[in-house]
Amino acid sequence: MPRFAIDAQRPEPALIERAAERLRAGELVAFPTETVYGLGANALDARAVAKIYAAKGRPSFNPLIVHVHDHSAARPLVRRWPALATRLVERFWPGPLTLVLARDPAIPELVSAGLDTVGLRAPDHPVAQALLRAAGPCAAPSANRYQSISPTTAAHVARSLGPQAWILDGGPTRVGIESTVIDLSDETQAPALLRLGGLPLAQLEALTGPLLRPLAPSGTQARSSPGQVGRHYAPSGELERLARPELLAALAAPQPAPLGLVLLGDELGEGATARAAHHLRLPADPEGYARLLYAALHTLDELGCAKILVEAVPESRAWAAVNDRLERATVVV
Ligand code: TXA
Ligand code: MG
Repeated sequence: MPRFAIDAQRPEPALIERAAERLRAGELVAFPTETVYGLGANALDARAVAKIYAAKGRPSFNPLIVHVHDHSAARPLVRRWPALATRLVERFWPGPLTLVLARDPAIPELVSAGLDTVGLRAPDHPVAQALLRAAGPCAAPSANRYQSISPTTAAHVARSLGPQAWILDGGPTRVGIESTVIDLSDETQAPALLRLGGLPLAQLEALTGPLLRPLAPSGTQARSSPGQVGRHYAPSGELERLARPELLAALAAPQPAPLGLVLLGDELGEGATARAAHHLRLPADPEGYARLLYAALHTLDELGCAKILVEAVPESRAWAAVNDRLERATVVV
């Protein structure tokens, strides 16, 4: 599949123009955002959008996020723009925040899987910004096969999707997990949190006030977000989360091989880690951990780990998005 190295800070204009030309022609282009790589198609072209669902093997009841370069490009895509949306985008765009708003008919139904709302986001990445400016609004889910781990590098995209799209390779992404999604489409209700993500909840709620609570993958929620199926972001081997004492006990017990191990911060000690075929350490702060989590899961998956033991991370609010992704990677349906 054609994969083009692009300067992540100063994307080459000629390459951006070629990619924009492909998008205008109704083809798919994978590109980096600050969260994960997206698989883009012209958001106003239903035939182009259909190619996304086909490439991902994703059911069409799962709505896509429409990406724009800024606020002014977002306004024509919705029927109502609440005052809170202005405050949010002034503070957090470009950035890892998706707003669900009332969809304008200019956006094909297929983008939103038949819903009368649409998710909108302006990504904070120079390549995404340049591309969206040149090509116009793009529908772009994470650039991976349905229910597999989201890509944080171009190599992950190539491995997951095969020869189905151009890839602009701008190196590893900075945030590492998907955007936070909130629903502002019903102005008679408080905004609802639909997906935890790259924008910390504390920052968001400082501006919105308390959001209607999100759901555990297996739980119920106040407002539905189709596509938030339990199993998601998951490697093919079984994944188990354990606090350090239980982790040590599990390492001393018989386990499927090859065994992968993901540690939080410090080493466990030679004897214990030696019982896993492969072990990785992730940073002990939530941003650093989120940045590298999917790459760690991709690596252990590629190494063919039959099982991955993950050291549990704190249950605090700062770690909520990481815990959500670990939980989704653990759920078996
Ligand atoms: O960070 C991100 O958001 C990445 C990058 C590429 O921007 N994109 C991403 O897209 O994660 P995707 O398609 O993998 O996840 C989109 C999710 C849907 O599964 C759904 O949960 C929610 O966003 N969503 C999108 N549009 C919605 C809508 N109209 N109503 C409710 N939920 C929606
Ligand atoms: Mg996804």
